[in-house]
Amino acid sequence: MRTLSQIGEIAGKKILVRDDFNVTMDENGKIQDDFKIRASLPTIEHLLKNQARIILMAHLGRPLEHESIRDLTDKDQRKKFSLRPIAERLSALLNKEVILAPDCIGPEAENLAASLKKGEILLLENLRFHKDEDDNNDDFAKKLSLLGEIYINDAFGNSHREDASMEAIVKHLPSFGGFLLHKEVEALSRIRQNPERPLAVIIGGAKISTKIKLIKEFLDKADNLMLGGALANTVLGAKGLAIGKSLIEENIFPEVKKMEITNPKLHIPVDVILSEDKNGQAENRVRSEERREG
Ligand code: 3PG
Repeated sequence: MRTLSQIGEIAGKKILVRDDFNVTMDENGKIQDDFKIRASLPTIEHLLKNQARIILMAHLGRPLEHESIRDLTDKDQRKKFSLRPIAERLSALLNKEVILAPDCIGPEAENLAASLKKGEILLLENLRFHKDEDDNNDDFAKKLSLLGEIYINDAFGNSHREDASMEAIVKHLPSFGGFLLHKEVEALSRIRQNPERPLAVIIGGAKISTKIKLIKEFLDKADNLMLGGALANTVLGAKGLAIGKSLIEENIFPEVKKMEITNPKLHIPVDVILSEDKNGQAENRVRSEERREG
């Protein structure tokens, strides 16, 4: 993986950066946790300091799968998945204007990218407004690539996806890994290859489906493995516990069951917080050994 320090002269160059700004939003479109945005700042600040012309691209949610979206070209329907709140938060964190392009490809994005001055930042609208992004479509990747001269992948949290902005695009531009990608890969490589003992691994997140390989690997390598966050719901559910309307991936129960859920190294939550609704404040706290029929 080539690093940012290998790019050479970047002043005045149009640098296209793929970030993972897929943050959780509340029902009013307010960002609930901006950790992913803040984690992307070192690369952006480096490019700013070196007077690059910066074009950021990212996705938010899964608009193609959402029942409220029937027409991805409809502005009102798109609003729920717009990157506008991300542009505003980035702008506040950097204390600098972040221009939002109305789409990630097309004449307006091209004009905005072409007229960027040194040290200016453009954020392209949600990549997932185009099915071609999910399909890893090469023509779409080519259109994105025409906006910049160099490509940087700093979207560690999306690197398991074969999206056009992650995979197909590297055929069209000289490509490098950003600071965040490097930091995460280095940390993971260290604990995979040469961990200090005893090794306790804590894995959280929403979807166990995307982490199951990692969980299996660390069940072998680690002395203790703890699962938390919403992904633990799927393990609790696979064990037959009641998880109500909480986020769960029932389709992978069989795989989760094969994962030695009785392995003594594996620790799953022993209690859970109950709430009337998914976004509400917790009202009660009970042990999770309550059975489904309870
Ligand atoms: C994530 O939040 O896990 C990544 O951004 C990938 O998002 P996805 O699971 O919707 O593809």
